[in-house]
Amino acid sequence: MSATAPIAIIGTGIAGLSAAQALHAAGQEVELFDKSRGSGGRMSSKRSDAGSLDLGAQYFTARDRRFVEVVQQWQARGWVAEWTPSLYHCNDGLLSASPDEQVRWVGIPRMSAITRAMLGALPVHFSCHITEVFRGEQHWTLQDAEGQSHGPFSHVVVAAPAPQASALLAAAPKLAAAAASVAMEPTWAVALAFDSPLASQVEGCFVQDNPLDWLARNRSKPGRDTALDTWVLHASSSWSKQHLDLSKEAVIEHLHGAFAELIGCAVPAPAFSLAHRWLYARPASAHQWGVLADANLGLYACGDWCLSGRVEGAWLSGQEAARRLLEHL
Ligand code: FAD
Ligand code: NAI
Repeated sequence: MSATAPIAIIGTGIAGLSAAQALHAAGQEVELFDKSRGSGGRMSSKRSDAGSLDLGAQYFTARDRRFVEVVQQWQARGWVAEWTPSLYHCNDGLLSASPDEQVRWVGIPRMSAITRAMLGALPVHFSCHITEVFRGEQHWTLQDAEGQSHGPFSHVVVAAPAPQASALLAAAPKLAAAAASVAMEPTWAVALAFDSPLASQVEGCFVQDNPLDWLARNRSKPGRDTALDTWVLHASSSWSKQHLDLSKEAVIEHLHGAFAELIGCAVPAPAFSLAHRWLYARPASAHQWGVLADANLGLYACGDWCLSGRVEGAWLSGQEAARRLLEHL
């Protein structure tokens, strides 16, 4: 059976697009909304003087059989490739090689290539911040920050981070309360680009007991094309929380210092640097909800915070939202 009006999906991160693709494949009409200028959310990439940079998700792993299968399809279509960095870890300031067998995937030539390809020609409104979701007698209407109304819609799928989702779930107080109970932690991300390659073997590094918790060398990822040696540094959740309102310049200075201390080679002043603050980077703890649903109302919420807080969890949650919605048509 087909819904009586299009299905609205708020959020064009991997969760929203996973739901959109599954619903579209089942013959449903979908319409997507995102407050940003493009798709991807926390998998988006920033264009910069140092080329495209993945400032959010760095890579992803696939453990669930359904996700493994879809990633294989993405690989066959040229959307993703395996990333096999020379991996290190740094504990108590001690840097050591830390090779493993884990398969890690990245979008090519940038992380955002995946969501962009998933979106395809589906109808989407970018730069459209939805502020209210309300239900009339039969249908849903969305209101955006410019005061414009969108609708009617038969169902609404909210695919935004939990704190942003809870405000949009007011029509179903139980769902809104569940979303509001999910704490999400911030991450400061910094990119540093050097004119000459640093004399280091490190291409990816898990860090503990440090302001940093991760570093990645952009040029080691497949399909990245830049003359500069660019690194993406992520601060730990606790450092990010403590320095939430620091200026970008000060964050760059701090994290550049921490990087120079741990990398074990000379680190000159970068030719280019930028900082980005992810306010809702990751859920403080994982959940096993899959999706939050009020099937009678036709309101659904999905996203990484409903599962593992990773790309895979977000994709699976979007699939689950679509499955539950289709079940009730
Ligand atoms: P999002 O990607 O956040 O998408 C939500 C979308 O909703 C956004 O595009 C947003 O603009 C939009 N939106 C929100 N509110 C509104 C509104 N009111 N109106 C309209 N649009 C709205 N995962 C991994 O697996 N591996 C990693 O290495 C990894 N590293 C990470 C590093 C960082 C710094 C961060 C921030 C995340 C990382 N993650 C990683 C997590 C991964 O990025 C997320 O789990 C996943 O991308 C979440 O997808 P999502 O669709 O649930 O949410
Ligand atoms: P994964 O299996 O590569 O990593 C999981 C965790 O295992 C790592 O965080 C690390 O602590 C450890 N680990 C894995 N391989 C290691 C190695 N070779 N040496 C030392 N430690 C190793 O990937 P998975 O499970 O898909 O996790 C995704 C990654 O995304 C994690 O690293 C997670 O921290 C990160 N992430 C970061 C967010 C942020 O806001 N900074 C948000 C969400 C996820």
